[in-house]
Amino acid sequence: MMLLFHVDVISFHIQPSAITRSLSLGRKLRAFRKRPLQSQAENSPPPSPDLLIHWKGEGIEGYSMQFRHIEFEGALAAVMGASFDRTCLRFSDALSYNGSVEMPESKLLRFNQAMQYVTTGGQVDQESIVAAVKRSSLVHAVYEIISEADTYEGLAEHAVLNDAFADMRPGEANENSTWCVRVRHYGQRSDGEKEKRYGYRARSLTKEKEALRALTPLLKQFGGRVDLDDPDCKIYVFDGLTRGKALLARRMATGPSVSVIAPNTRICVTNTPLCPIAAFNMCNVAGIRHDSSILDPFAGSCATLLAAAMIEPSCQTVGIEIAHDGLVNRNDIRKDFTSRDLTEPVSLIHGDCTDAGTRRAAREAIGNKPFDLIITDPPYGIRESKLAVTPINELLRGMAHDREAGSPLLAQGGKLVCFLPCQEGEDFDSDVLPSKDLLGQAGLYVELVKEQPLNEKLSRWLVSFNSIC
Ligand SMILES: C[S@@+](CC[C@H](N)C(=O)[O-])C[C@H]1O[C@@H](n2cnc3c(N)ncnc32)[C@H](O)[C@@H]1O
Repeated sequence: MMLLFHVDVISFHIQPSAITRSLSLGRKLRAFRKRPLQSQAENSPPPSPDLLIHWKGEGIEGYSMQFRHIEFEGALAAVMGASFDRTCLRFSDALSYNGSVEMPESKLLRFNQAMQYVTTGGQVDQESIVAAVKRSSLVHAVYEIISEADTYEGLAEHAVLNDAFADMRPGEANENSTWCVRVRHYGQRSDGEKEKRYGYRARSLTKEKEALRALTPLLKQFGGRVDLDDPDCKIYVFDGLTRGKALLARRMATGPSVSVIAPNTRICVTNTPLCPIAAFNMCNVAGIRHDSSILDPFAGSCATLLAAAMIEPSCQTVGIEIAHDGLVNRNDIRKDFTSRDLTEPVSLIHGDCTDAGTRRAAREAIGNKPFDLIITDPPYGIRESKLAVTPINELLRGMAHDREAGSPLLAQGGKLVCFLPCQEGEDFDSDVLPSKDLLGQAGLYVELVKEQPLNEKLSRWLVSFNSIC
């Protein structure tokens, strides 16, 4: 069978050093140009995309792809603050499977969306993109698109004309940066005959040599040396993507290695630990910023707070957990933070979050103030009827009580982000989502809902509420 589609599986490898590097999300300073991304002139045709995003693969089909955009947008909003307008981002698929292998629709979608172009309309600067990518668990890497052309020589010509790599020349900011060139080819332009299946890695040394020859006029301007293992500047030629021409791109940043807080690496784990990707998704949708105060009222082993500490070491976190130390050992939880060099929670409270005294203790832990954010994965339980008391409703009643008493749990403009389970036969809006009355009493309104199917009978919905208190 002829291979017509290739996936860059090399990019899914976790390097040994990635664990330590990922903890602060700071990493080695990579060489990238500091300039705004292209802006859109008035009355001009739709702009060309300025970025290419390679999303992380998913272990289970359809598990997290629905959270990609909201996580990335949430991260950008947190990084840029009020100046970020979500509507400026336009995503479009960069892959279009045209091979001969029969695939179900869902799988096709998964392949075609694995890489997407992003148009920012000049509203987002490069440094904000880099900062957002470093905290977005579903981004594998983001590339700045330098040039598009029918030939590799054309790519180099445009790049030289645009001065796209001026910073790499002697005397410029990144003159000593190491670099390497990689070629990735997709669809019918690939050397498919060598492969057995569409999903296998394809890296053709012949094509890489061809590209290097063609790019020579550009590359010989660089001051730094080649480093194939860990270069400061990774240059890519993408061939066979949906816009038809070859692309010259420069890697700007890669997403975090969230596996360093995976349950199987931690000392304390509950029966229902939240996976790191989900924890990062929630933190980004909540928009954690410098110094944010964060409460998880159903904390368990604190997956949410670990993700928060990875994203923003300056944040103050508090966890409430009803189980005693015999089941959820708080010393072990603290070790899970300190052994990773992450900022420990300010307080890990043993108590019931539906109890006013416990919530008061949580507020006191951060100086008797309301929290900026509540991020939590409440217990799912099995509800017997629509009228059953759900953990989230109980929490909201507590928040309504505190608000009424003049000591709100969540600050005005703050967010409550949580997962809510929805079982077969239930309607999310009418059976699961808290009622408008209860939300009103708690001072909340719904900002965003997104479903994540877990199996045929159960999904969980990521919900973000805004606080108007
Ligand atoms: C779905 S688990 C959260 C798992 C957690 N995200 C983790 O990574 O381990 C829900 C947790 O809430 C706790 N819980 C249940 N009711 C509670 C309550 N009223 N107050 C505080 N914690 C509660 C449970 O003991 C359980 O550990």
